[in-house]
Amino acid sequence: LRIAVLASGRGSNLQAIMDAIAAGTLDAQVVGVFSDRRRAPVLERAERAGIRAVAVQPRRFPDRQSYEAELFARIDATEPDLIVCAGYMRLLGAATVNAHAGHIVNIHPSLLPAHKGLHTHQQALDAGACEHGASVHYVTAELDGGPVISQACVPIEPGDDAESLAARVLLREHPLLVATLRLFAARRVELQEATVFIDARPL
Ligand code: GRF
Repeated sequence: LRIAVLASGRGSNLQAIMDAIAAGTLDAQVVGVFSDRRRAPVLERAERAGIRAVAVQPRRFPDRQSYEAELFARIDATEPDLIVCAGYMRLLGAATVNAHAGHIVNIHPSLLPAHKGLHTHQQALDAGACEHGASVHYVTAELDGGPVISQACVPIEPGDDAESLAARVLLREHPLLVATLRLFAARRVELQEATVFIDARPL
């Protein structure tokens, strides 16, 4: 499975993917890591691993469309089977998303459809939720609104704040994302008419 990663930050999800590949538990290769931020740590992780690391900076483009066209021209040039957004902090335009329908997924730190958008852990706390978690979903033009593929739940403990909750969720994100990519590598996930079909027989 040829994976392109799109990220803006720390890169712990990329690291989880690279570690699983190195451990032989994920039959995939990261063909490129792309970011909107030149100094994003995620790009350094890629470079250290000898993986193509590309920054495309929005401020060098007159508008979002031309920025996104360049970004995805660079991504498409690596011929990925799947584009994985992991902490990419910009909305993708409908043209881009539709051109890659069924081939872009995102990991979002909430139990979708609850708590879309940012500050999801604080949202869950403010809502008085007793559990929270992470979701891998197909990317559509609606922010965090695409069909959900997989989820991991964590309890919200008394005394939790956004930081402690985020840490608990992040620990579950990594195995969730790797397990979901394993399904893609085994060609067991399909999106048909906004419905996700998974062949869940033992791998
Ligand atoms: C993760 O919490 C992910 O769910 C969210 O952004 C964060 C990315 O973290 N979309 P990292 O850059 O992979 O460490």
